[in-house]
Amino acid sequence: MMKIPLKKVELFCGTGGVGKTTVATGRALALANEGRKVLLITIDPAKRLKQILNLPDIDDGAVNTVSLDLFDGDKTKSFDAMLMSPGATLKRIAVQKGLEAEFESTIIKTLSRPYGGMNEIMSIIEVQHQLERNVYDTIILDTPPGKHFIDFLESSEKIKNFFDKSFLEIFEYLGKSIHGGGKSRNIITLMISTGVKKLLSYLEAVTGADFVREFIDAVLALYKSRDAFLHALDFQKELKQESFSNWFLVTSVEQQKLNEAQDLKDQAENFIHNDLFLVINKCLTPYLNAWNPEANTPLSRLKGGMVSRESELSEFASKNFTNVLKFHEINNPSPLEHVKGLALQFKA
Ligand SMILES: Nc1ncnc2c1ncn2[C@@H]1O[C@H](COP(=O)(O)OP(=O)(O)O)[C@@H](O)[C@H]1O
Ligand SMILES: [Mg+2]
Repeated sequence: MMKIPLKKVELFCGTGGVGKTTVATGRALALANEGRKVLLITIDPAKRLKQILNLPDIDDGAVNTVSLDLFDGDKTKSFDAMLMSPGATLKRIAVQKGLEAEFESTIIKTLSRPYGGMNEIMSIIEVQHQLERNVYDTIILDTPPGKHFIDFLESSEKIKNFFDKSFLEIFEYLGKSIHGGGKSRNIITLMISTGVKKLLSYLEAVTGADFVREFIDAVLALYKSRDAFLHALDFQKELKQESFSNWFLVTSVEQQKLNEAQDLKDQAENFIHNDLFLVINKCLTPYLNAWNPEANTPLSRLKGGMVSRESELSEFASKNFTNVLKFHEINNPSPLEHVKGLALQFKA
């Protein structure tokens, strides 16, 4: 196994079902076993981590301590695990800014539900927060599959555009400078006296006056907390640094999955650097090597076919990726055993 440098942040990405969550958890276990302080965050709303680690079934974004006892390991060691909760992160911002009442808005609440569209942005903010707490040696991120992962990478840019452009547009649209006042009732009055009246009265007719008021309140509350959002931009800058992050692109031994990994790498090229590890998960090599069917039988031909297919795929992978890690399939039905087996392969 090649040497994997120790970094502050490690990202596990890839398409669905290839083993991201399991490999990331295996990595957390391996590092914790070496005595590093590790936080594992899953930002995939699918939350399989909850089942694997048997975490409490509440969406409160709490940090849970997982003893290595769970994996029959050293009882005195542990790692921390957290299921990303956009609502909980937003709540913290609200408290920090004294905007609790404003953030009670149903619009903000809807946005911050797990599939509400703010998951990726809130995740960036949460990671930045955890980095600033300065408690962990390594933060491991189990990211959502495919497109959502690219959303995660690009969300800092979206935050910036949102506050730079969208807000200016909204306020300009309302005919009022952002620095002048900021009371929603005044703005409503202003809107009524300006050209927006028509639009709002139409909106009001469809959604009711309460919605319009709530919408404006939500926009203002987000604007008042903008520095908490903009702060997360720092994380994105750091992420691109080779000294700061390791990237693990997880895939399985299928041409289709390897192509998807290649696509994801291309889409993320503005972020990824040289410490990118392609993890080919669920390789059959050890079993195939241990299996010796009689020569010239259908079984020996089957083995030959499987071996050459795997080595062709490995060759394809090495052509396109500098660092290739091959992790073999764990022959056991228990997800905990999968994590354990993968942790050992990280160490090997
Ligand atoms: N090396 C492995 N050997 C055996 N089973 C594995 C291995 N890696 C992952 N699995 C299993 O594959 C399934 C999908 O893994 P998961 O980590 O949930 O994928 P993802 O997070 O990419 O969707 C799980 O049941 C997991 O336990
Ligand atoms: Mg997963």
